[in-house]
Amino acid sequence: MTTMDSADVKLLYEEFPYPSPTAESALIEDVANGLGFLVEDGELDGWKVLDVGCGTGHRLLGMALRYPRAHFTGVDGSAASLAVARRLAERHGARNVRFVEGLLPQLDLPTDHDLVVCTGLVHHLPDPRAGMRWLSDRLGPDGLLYLWLYHALGEHQRLLDRELVRLLRPDDSRGSGLETVRALGLTLAEERYGTGSAAGTERDEVRAVAEADAYLHPVVHAYRFRDVAALCDGLPLDWAAAFGVNTDGGSRFIDLANVEDDPYLCCQGPELVPPALRDRFARLDALGRLTAIELALRPTGLSVAAGRGRALDLCAPRLHGNVFAAPSRTAPSPGSLSPAGSSFPVPQDSTTP
Ligand SMILES: C[S@@+](CC[C@H](N)C(=O)[O-])C[C@H]1O[C@@H](n2cnc3c(N)ncnc32)[C@H](O)[C@@H]1O
Repeated sequence: MTTMDSADVKLLYEEFPYPSPTAESALIEDVANGLGFLVEDGELDGWKVLDVGCGTGHRLLGMALRYPRAHFTGVDGSAASLAVARRLAERHGARNVRFVEGLLPQLDLPTDHDLVVCTGLVHHLPDPRAGMRWLSDRLGPDGLLYLWLYHALGEHQRLLDRELVRLLRPDDSRGSGLETVRALGLTLAEERYGTGSAAGTERDEVRAVAEADAYLHPVVHAYRFRDVAALCDGLPLDWAAAFGVNTDGGSRFIDLANVEDDPYLCCQGPELVPPALRDRFARLDALGRLTAIELALRPTGLSVAAGRGRALDLCAPRLHGNVFAAPSRTAPSPGSLSPAGSSFPVPQDSTTP
């Protein structure tokens, strides 16, 4: 039985809204850029888009300004985060965004979205499968889901550090938790957590928010592609496809069918194994090739697209070769991997105080 619930997660984000509010005017473009590489008709004209767990809205506003003829709804459980997001939307004159405050999976919202974006939320839900069910239920008949999750291999060390911080911090106060982070000499790579661009007191605040998110979070799961397949089992989704991976060296799209000719932008897989083993690699199924890629690259994050109806036709051809699961045709089996996250020894929260 988990001792953590959404109320603990909400408390953390009320105290440390994410991404840091001090960076109020700077939008974060990565998801908007990613959408351009995911959806073939790049304009998203008239689309209804839901950004679930939008936080302070830096990524949501990046999308809303990039796609002015789509209609965006940002959802979050943290009032403090949404207050920042609303100011940000006003400052940027975004007229195509509205916000809803509420907690998954209880929140009731329409079920006709063309696109549901969810970056950095599912791995913080006490019940990730209920969260995935909620997200897929918000899709219309041809709806597309875009997810970003922590990867279990690249985040392994950081999650062990988090467990140590939570074990040694003096009490339940999150402020003193940060002192424990400092006492242990833990630091986050500046580029990876966006702590590098600020200066002075702003820099301290950006750093505190990043450290709280990294080391004090009450609920964290981490995933490999096979765990995502298990997490999607039995959901009303026709397919799930790998989109990309993040490593300390940068982000790369996955291209298992060698559709693109750009080794810097795309990871195809054979280049990661010695020439003598490439035939064996080529004989693996999609999930096998993704497993080889993640074992070779040890990513810190993974992104996945999933959908139903005609959604796959809307995606770049590369995505068709990256399909690794057909959830609506797979019944959850007792032997399938835990939907809570990877069986790799990453700390899970059922045992966290
Ligand atoms: C790590 S932040 C991600 C923010 C944003 N999506 C991004 O990628 O920059 C996670 C967000 O999810 C929200 N959240 C966590 N659990 C939630 C729940 N059960 N329902 C709604 N929002 C939740 C938090 O308040 C927080 O703003």
